Amino acid sequence: MDYKYLGRTGLKVSELCMGSMNFGWTAPRENAAPVFDAFVAAGGNFIDTADVYSRWAPGNPGGVAEELIGQWLKTQRRDQIILATKVRGPMGDGPNDQGLSRKHILDACDASLRRLQTDYIDLYQTHYWDEHTPLEETLRALDDLVQAGKVRYLGCSNLPAWHLMESLWVSEKHNLARYDSVQPHYNLVHRAEFEREHQAVCLKYGLGVIPYSPIAGGLLSGKYRHGYVPQQGTRGWNLRHAFTEQNFALIDKLEEIGKTRSQSVLQMALAWVMHQPAITSPIIGANTVEQWQEITGAIGLKLTEDELKQLNEASKWEE
Ligand SMILES: NC(=O)c1ccc[n+]([C@@H]2O[C@H](COP(=O)([O-])OP(=O)(O)OC[C@H]3O[C@@H](n4cnc5c(N)ncnc54)[C@H](OP(=O)(O)O)[C@@H]3O)[C@@H](O)[C@H]2O)c1
Repeated sequence: MDYKYLGRTGLKVSELCMGSMNFGWTAPRENAAPVFDAFVAAGGNFIDTADVYSRWAPGNPGGVAEELIGQWLKTQRRDQIILATKVRGPMGDGPNDQGLSRKHILDACDASLRRLQTDYIDLYQTHYWDEHTPLEETLRALDDLVQAGKVRYLGCSNLPAWHLMESLWVSEKHNLARYDSVQPHYNLVHRAEFEREHQAVCLKYGLGVIPYSPIAGGLLSGKYRHGYVPQQGTRGWNLRHAFTEQNFALIDKLEEIGKTRSQSVLQMALAWVMHQPAITSPIIGANTVEQWQEITGAIGLKLTEDELKQLNEASKWEE
């Protein structure tokens, strides 16, 4: 596993980040620790979570993924793990139980620290935009957390490009800690949102990029083919809108190129993301150690110019 600087910072993160949204949702909670162990054994040091994971799943009140990480962290050297979490989503039904207000950010950070059983978060990210809170209020609260030592770096996710630029500007104007990473939705079947404007912003301003869903939530794992009928309650069920001729043609192309070099559909799709400009560390999801083992086949995989061209062509988007 290689390590990369997170944007312009001096922080080194593994070239793959391990996600955690699945544990307590589509993967049993007890699978989390063995997957994290296998990830660390392969050289991974970077783990992503969010306070809200995965509150939408039946029987999950939110905070479960952070609690699982907190329990597992006790078996690790804390200083060797780069821990990323997020704030914004609803953690209760009260009027201040969500958002990016000063109140919610400060309360939510303390709650995350308690669940994670640690006294600092390496990368604290705003999960998505809060259009009702002034940007300066949000960025000042985040800066205070950095000054207090509770948080080491700041990142954001799911921001429109203009809002990202405005955030960088407000931080600079008021001499506040700024966002040093962006967590976009980016993969072979979801390219336009990142490539249209964010990619250039990240390159120009030295922002680390840690894209989520690099295999499109499993769509590009190779297991979904023409005629596949997903079961309700699975990730496949959520993906059924993406079972299109165009996406199946892309999967066929991934398989065709992969076969020439004994790589799976998943490995080719993940390697494509890892090759794209500005990318620091895709956040992958693995429900089991076996799934993680297949994912490791993308590490160090070098695609040729011709392979990248073919995959770009098979996944191209219209202006
Ligand atoms: N910022 C945000 O708004 C946001 C949004 C989404 C995710 N995230 C972060 O990104 C992480 C990853 O997201 P994601 O889960 O959508 O990523 P993904 O890597 O695109 O999809 C992961 C899913 O693919 C399937 N899979 C993985 N390896 C496989 C294998 N070898 N064979 C067959 N299937 C395999 C598994 O689902 P099944 O086995 O159930 O099919 C697994 O849960 C999350 O955990 C979270 O930390 C952030």
